[in-house]
Amino acid sequence: AEQLKKRLFEMHTLAGRFFYEALQEEEGAEARAYLQKRQMDPRMARKFGIGYSPDSYDALFRHLQEKGFKVSEILKTGLVLENKDGKGYHDRFRGRLMFPIFDVQGRVVGFGGRILAKGEPKYLNSPETILFSKSRNLYGLNFAKQTRKRELILVEGYMDMLSIYQAGFHNVVASLGTAFNQEHARTLKRFADDVILLYDSDEAGTNAALRAIPVLVKNGFHVKVTQVPDGKDPDEFIKAKGAAEFSKLLVNAVHYISFEIACIQRKYNLKNPEHRVRFATEAAEILAKLDSEIERNVYLGEVSRVTGVEEEAIRSEIRKLVQKED
Ligand code: GTP
Ligand code: MN
Ligand code: MN
Ligand code: MN
Ligand code: MN
Repeated sequence: AEQLKKRLFEMHTLAGRFFYEALQEEEGAEARAYLQKRQMDPRMARKFGIGYSPDSYDALFRHLQEKGFKVSEILKTGLVLENKDGKGYHDRFRGRLMFPIFDVQGRVVGFGGRILAKGEPKYLNSPETILFSKSRNLYGLNFAKQTRKRELILVEGYMDMLSIYQAGFHNVVASLGTAFNQEHARTLKRFADDVILLYDSDEAGTNAALRAIPVLVKNGFHVKVTQVPDGKDPDEFIKAKGAAEFSKLLVNAVHYISFEIACIQRKYNLKNPEHRVRFATEAAEILAKLDSEIERNVYLGEVSRVTGVEEEAIRSEIRKLVQKED
């Protein structure tokens, strides 16, 4: 099994180099133009091993065969697939901008490929293999860990991670659209204590952030949340506003409780007394989950101010909820 792993690492390294070289060649012109359009610094592209998968049926397959790998081994990388009719093989990634995915030691364990024009799927990723676990891997962690900062920025996408890094914030990792889970948290815990959650500002991103919070909190992280304005994502924001404005977003990150309360507040019209009651009740449920009496008091004050409900009333509601849990 160790021998197989070694062979799989070798094939991934070769594939990474193959894609990287294709990007520099004539066939990579469209992908290079695409990178330029997205304002990626060529030094960044080199550092992160960005490449291009040729728009050919089986170029990588043939390349790996030439290098002496057996079909059975090549198939285990997930980079090559057997044809449906059982005759022959084809590359998984064709005509895509290629992002190598690294493990924490910086070895290539898989790839993400972005389509250059409009089309579906926008991103195609390597399947799970013995090298690559989607529920454990965080994109960029091998670079972020080198900062030795115990605070990491967590984003959704490849390009968010890369843009933030390019803007000079090197403590950033991406969960790549997979729901942030227990195993991600355990991986992250080795390198960080504090997380700034920065998911996309659309509904999907907001909901994903709300689901990531309890996972992070349960694993002992201090969690702050921030979002870019106007429904953009962090990559678009940095490209439009620059690093200094981005830095302000980080400074303005709020404790996750404030974010959760702000999210439920949006559902209610606080001019309506009935809505104020329901909002205060829902907020009490969030506050009841806090372990720290001090934290609870701080946010209790906030909820009381915006709802006009007396602190004591909210506090007694919280007490009821806490007792129910015990
Ligand atoms: P860009 O358009 O390149 O900026 O992509 P994005 O990162 O902004 O895309 P989006 O916010 O839609 O998705 C966030 C992340 O989810 C991406 O970076 C991918 O890792 C992943 N993702 C997006 N679309 C797909 C898809 O069609 N299939 C899969 N498997 N993953 C996807
Ligand atoms: Mn070759
Ligand atoms: Mn999105
Ligand atoms: Mn984007
Ligand atoms: Mn996005």
